Amino acid sequence: MASDYLWFEGIPFPSLGYRIEDLKSVKNEFVVRDGDVITLSFPKSGTNWLREIISLIYSKGDPNWVQSVPIWDRSPWLETEAGYEYLPKKEDPRIYSSHLPIQLFSKSVFHSKAKMIYLLRNPRDVITSGFYFYRILKGCKYPQTFDQYFEWFLQGNVPFGSWFDHCQGWLQMRGKENFLVITYEELHQNLRTSVEKIFQFLGEKLDSEELNSVLKNASFKAMQDNKMSNHTIIPDAFMDHSQGQLLRKGVTGDWKHHFTVAQREAFDKIYREYMTGLPPGLFPWDS
Ligand code: A3P
Repeated sequence: MASDYLWFEGIPFPSLGYRIEDLKSVKNEFVVRDGDVITLSFPKSGTNWLREIISLIYSKGDPNWVQSVPIWDRSPWLETEAGYEYLPKKEDPRIYSSHLPIQLFSKSVFHSKAKMIYLLRNPRDVITSGFYFYRILKGCKYPQTFDQYFEWFLQGNVPFGSWFDHCQGWLQMRGKENFLVITYEELHQNLRTSVEKIFQFLGEKLDSEELNSVLKNASFKAMQDNKMSNHTIIPDAFMDHSQGQLLRKGVTGDWKHHFTVAQREAFDKIYREYMTGLPPGLFPWDS
């Protein structure tokens, strides 16, 4: 069960589906185009929810696309072997996703007009979601206990490294007109307003019927029932489906059922230290 990571420039990657040569090429050769639409996130932030919403915005709420094409083909992962094989040759328009920290992303992004959406989630819930997910996903270290995974997370010894560095790194882009920051908590609190914000940022127009269909088809239940989005068709070589599912609970605040008092205190201390410099009240989970 236990397996170690693939390491690139001090960052751990799953050892299945990733290659050092692709990671080097993404950083040094890949060219971001002005028309690209890129979902950026640390794993377990609700990335698949956002990818589904973006797919549905581009299909004007018509569920046909999300129900017939796997989510990883609708919005491929730039840094995976399969994604990097496909994306550089793909004609416009390109919609894709990445978990890369900013220092490993193509530098061309800094001069591009590509639309980027950076999704964040309360890191305590990111930890909780990751603990369960890395018992399912192969090619990663298998956490035996929550406490063990909690420590790995604080050390940045989880896929894609330190959440704190990822967040601080990408948030340097905050304020650029082609960079939208959105949180999982906002999606939860008001999906309609959040989807409106996203499609306006993308320069798309949806009428109320189309918007209602996006909301309906991006719901937790709809995604859980959609085999093109719920990851159940991923072969057993990559995921141990007997251990659980990607669409696990889909709630905010589940961390409260997992953290001990000591973990709450340890996390708060590190969070405060790392997040200095960001404006207070930036994240819904801080208020
Ligand atoms: P939980 O494990 O807390 O349930 P990612 O896509 O970045 O891997 O994140 C997965 C998390 O997003 C999981 O959280 C999953 O349940 C949640 N998620 C995915 N689709 C969702 C949806 N439509 N509504 C709410 N949460 C969703």
